[in-house]
Amino acid sequence: MAGRSAVMLGSCSIDQGRSCRFVSMETALFEVATLTDATEEQRLCEIQCQSFGLSTDYWERYVSRIGRTNFRVIRRAGRVIGGLGIYHAGQWFGGRCLDMAGIAAVAIAPEDRSSGAAAHLMASALTELQEQGVPISALYPTTQRLYRRSGYEQAGSCCLHRLSLNSIQLRQTDVSLTRIEGVHHEPCHELARTRARITNGNLERNTGLWERAVTFPYADKSVYRYLVGESDQPEGYLIFYYDADKPGPFNICVRDMMAVSPGAARTIWAFLSSYRSVATSVSWNGPAVEPLLLLPAELKAEVVSHERWMLRLVDVRGALCARGYLPHVDAELHLEITDDIVSANNGRFILNVANGSATIRDGGRGDLKAHVRGLSPLFSGFLSPVLLRHMGHIDAGDQTVATATSIFSGPPPWMPDRF
Ligand SMILES: CC(C)(COP(=O)(O)OP(=O)(O)OC[C@H]1O[C@@H](n2cnc3c(N)ncnc32)[C@H](O)[C@@H]1OP(=O)(O)O)[C@@H](O)C(=O)NCCC(=O)NCCS
Repeated sequence: MAGRSAVMLGSCSIDQGRSCRFVSMETALFEVATLTDATEEQRLCEIQCQSFGLSTDYWERYVSRIGRTNFRVIRRAGRVIGGLGIYHAGQWFGGRCLDMAGIAAVAIAPEDRSSGAAAHLMASALTELQEQGVPISALYPTTQRLYRRSGYEQAGSCCLHRLSLNSIQLRQTDVSLTRIEGVHHEPCHELARTRARITNGNLERNTGLWERAVTFPYADKSVYRYLVGESDQPEGYLIFYYDADKPGPFNICVRDMMAVSPGAARTIWAFLSSYRSVATSVSWNGPAVEPLLLLPAELKAEVVSHERWMLRLVDVRGALCARGYLPHVDAELHLEITDDIVSANNGRFILNVANGSATIRDGGRGDLKAHVRGLSPLFSGFLSPVLLRHMGHIDAGDQTVATATSIFSGPPPWMPDRF
């Protein structure tokens, strides 16, 4: 088997309790498998906690959120040397929700790095996802090189905004605010979907991601949850904790907030403003151009950080057919895709968009040529086709670029979740 290349990973399938063997280099035998053994789980816990500087106390909570069956370990010569977790959730594009695999906690033991283990682990996971029919995968990279090699590219934003509470200057409105007792998140689900349908990139959180959103993810800390509006017809929600480890004025850290009416948005801001005697500012994750910032009286806001998440079209044709499009667009695009991990994505096909939906048939002229990686920011609407052509991510003539622009235009993709 020596010398077998990464391209051959396309034939791999991993089910519960089964494993899959690859050879990456002349001497190294890699094996990717599910977590079925307590000793192996303990080793994976040690590797991940060491890699991310986490306490091992956190492991049980982490495993319960991701789900034990959604971890994969990679072994070399029978020894666990790393692993990853997969959040099976959804992600919204063009008003439709696609199954999405959120890759988290990719880690290789320090003593086993730089031998291609992580690249093999990712290729194995992607092959498995493609076989399961999952069309897309997203992640937050600590290093892009590994994920670019796996076919991911930047495709959306997560901006941490901070606003001075004194700049809000809004008073309570008629819309009520009710505390959500316990760690419930169900009343927020439909509200989150309302936001997701009119933007791009928001998650359809699974239970683990909702639990993450409504708690402090790494420890037991008080998190406050409020529903805005009448309980039978809520208009928004607010989930936050205090960043107050020492005495003195603190920052309010919002885990998530959203409003489907101007009254609900004013109520949220007025509520946060009422903290101004003890807190100085509020921070939250939002889109780069945050519409909520239209309401405070002054714009004493800053972008503390601007992260970009990456997307991978695992099943290119499936993903293009599953997302929604603007209803007035009626267009045909001839594509030619190359993918060195998921071979089923290779080739030419014709994308037809009409009445907000797409159909695909094989063949065509291949007017727009792209590596699967270059397709991610086009698919999500993160960058326009003309800019992607400037950056060398797609190859297309002017007419094709104009067609692609009409198909993929939409709100800039973002998500409030970090995972
Ligand atoms: C990042 C990490 C998973 C890489 O594991 P690895 O087995 O050493 O990676 P590989 O040998 O498979 O390398 C795959 C590619 O990523 C690149 N890469 C690996 N580690 C890198 C790093 N720390 N910084 C930049 N690039 C890196 C390699 O150069 C290689 O690219 P190339 O083939 O184009 O040269 C490992 O260093 C790790 O566990 N780090 C700590 C945790 C972490 O940051 N995880 C990522 C979470 S998103």
